[in-house]
Amino acid sequence: MELRKRHKAHARPLKNLEERYDWYARAIELEAPARAGAWIETYCPAARELHLDLGCGKGQFAVAQAQRHPDVLFVGLDYDRTCIALAAQKACELELGNCVFALADGEDLTTYFGLEELSRIYLNFSTPHPRKKHAAERLTHVDQLIAYRDLLAPGACIEMKTDSPPFYEFSLVQFELAGYDIAWKTTDLHALDADSPVTEYEERLCALGAKVHACCATKADRPFTNEQTAELSLFEYLPEDLDTLEYVPYGMEGYVFNTKNRRAKEQARLL
Ligand SMILES: C[S@@+](CC[C@H](N)C(=O)[O-])C[C@H]1O[C@@H](n2cnc3c(N)ncnc32)[C@H](O)[C@@H]1O
Repeated sequence: MELRKRHKAHARPLKNLEERYDWYARAIELEAPARAGAWIETYCPAARELHLDLGCGKGQFAVAQAQRHPDVLFVGLDYDRTCIALAAQKACELELGNCVFALADGEDLTTYFGLEELSRIYLNFSTPHPRKKHAAERLTHVDQLIAYRDLLAPGACIEMKTDSPPFYEFSLVQFELAGYDIAWKTTDLHALDADSPVTEYEERLCALGAKVHACCATKADRPFTNEQTAELSLFEYLPEDLDTLEYVPYGMEGYVFNTKNRRAKEQARLL
């Protein structure tokens, strides 16, 4: 499968990557389109539901969920080859029969899953792509959310978690446009629910002071539109006074650092 070239690797390259794809082949799917409509039948006929961890990274969350819910098939999907190898290793070492990892681009989701095949989509710490020109690559962009609608079973939901208040605010508008209802939302998930499995990024970013912003959206039976109303640059969602930020969201560190520096220099020139 030809994956897009423009993406930042999320895991350090591994020397024996090709061999790992052989060792852990049982938990790796390289031809996701061939499985559309038949994931459960192919991988875990006893499963009652299929859940997708979209942008699964190194698989910690999907593997933990698969251990907790043996009657659900978990598919982790990521376009990073190293992440998929590491995730599949975890599933194989734990001998999980209900967890598989697909190397694929999440922007093409409608070619990998059949109508109403998914009972849940997890969007955990999706890459925020803060610049306006990359807004369409966000996995919660209205065009993506509209595309997911056909794949969701009745009563299915999308759960998102992020460290980024700007990405969260942007995404809430996208859910509204794409005709989803928000079943619940929070700006501090850990204060509400300490029991849900954490992801690799969640561990790392919470240790730096992040609060997990999260919501759960269900497909509503009402009109939807892809006429964008949200501000597309995530930088515009930051407070004017950047010194008030207690935590700088992942992906915005460079912008905040440079903007503070530039403003300090402008200030110094005025003195
Ligand atoms: C910030 S990491 C989060 C990983 C994991 N969900 C976590 O919470 O630790 C974002 C992941 O999404 C993947 N990703 C981003 N856009 C994607 C896309 N269009 N298709 C597949 N994977 C994507 C990246 O390769 C990366 O592994």
